[in-house]
Amino acid sequence: MTPAEIAPKDRLIVALDVPSLELAEAMVNRLGDSVTFYKIGYRLAYAGGLPLVGKLADRGKKVFLDLKLHDIGNTVTQGVESITKLGATFLTVHAYPQTMKGAVEGRGNTSLKILAVTVLTSYNEDDLHAAGYRLGVSELVEARAQQAQVLGVDGLVCSPEEVGSLRKIVGHQMNLVTPGIRPAGSATGDQKRIMTPGRAIAAGADYLVVGRPVVEAADPKAVADAIQAEIAQALD
Ligand code: C5P
Repeated sequence: MTPAEIAPKDRLIVALDVPSLELAEAMVNRLGDSVTFYKIGYRLAYAGGLPLVGKLADRGKKVFLDLKLHDIGNTVTQGVESITKLGATFLTVHAYPQTMKGAVEGRGNTSLKILAVTVLTSYNEDDLHAAGYRLGVSELVEARAQQAQVLGVDGLVCSPEEVGSLRKIVGHQMNLVTPGIRPAGSATGDQKRIMTPGRAIAAGADYLVVGRPVVEAADPKAVADAIQAEIAQALD
């Protein structure tokens, strides 16, 4: 989807990083109409959360399955073929060429969109070196973004600080999805490179992933509404 085609309300993706299906459903009920898009990651998916994808889709919600797949191409293709039947909108894979190629093959012409995670935001130059890489973080992010585009991947997960440089590489055909978002005044947690919702949208992010500031708030709906208002203002 090009940025102009994304409904402003769909730009907030709330990460349902809670330990059970019951807690996730309670959070979705509390957030009601304020949130249209949810992210299900390792914690919930491996705690019986996968059936929630279809349940949310039946309620008209969109789901980002953050499973960060990585395996031999054939296995990725077969896994993604199975995932296309769950009803999710986004699925993450690590940005290795064989993995991205396998994922694009697996999603075929379905409505599932593949997002590639370029370099995990917890990695710095030393971590990459220790893992055997020659390139530094920004070079590797850019190289992988180019590969993702050539292979037909639909979008990238990146830090809000990378949005500007990646947009120049991939244009508006690929969606840029950014975690590391913190409303002004909220706790940063373990996120190191953070931006407010308004600044991230102004920088060109298409979708914002927000977890703890919403799901750990005393009033999650009020926080989600405030983020939605900030997004709408930044788009004006
Ligand atoms: O709670 P918080 O807003 O930090 O949640 C961010 C979400 O985005 C978490 O589910 C985390 O796993 C995910 N994420 C991230 N950084 C990445 C990729 C995904 O924080 N590079």
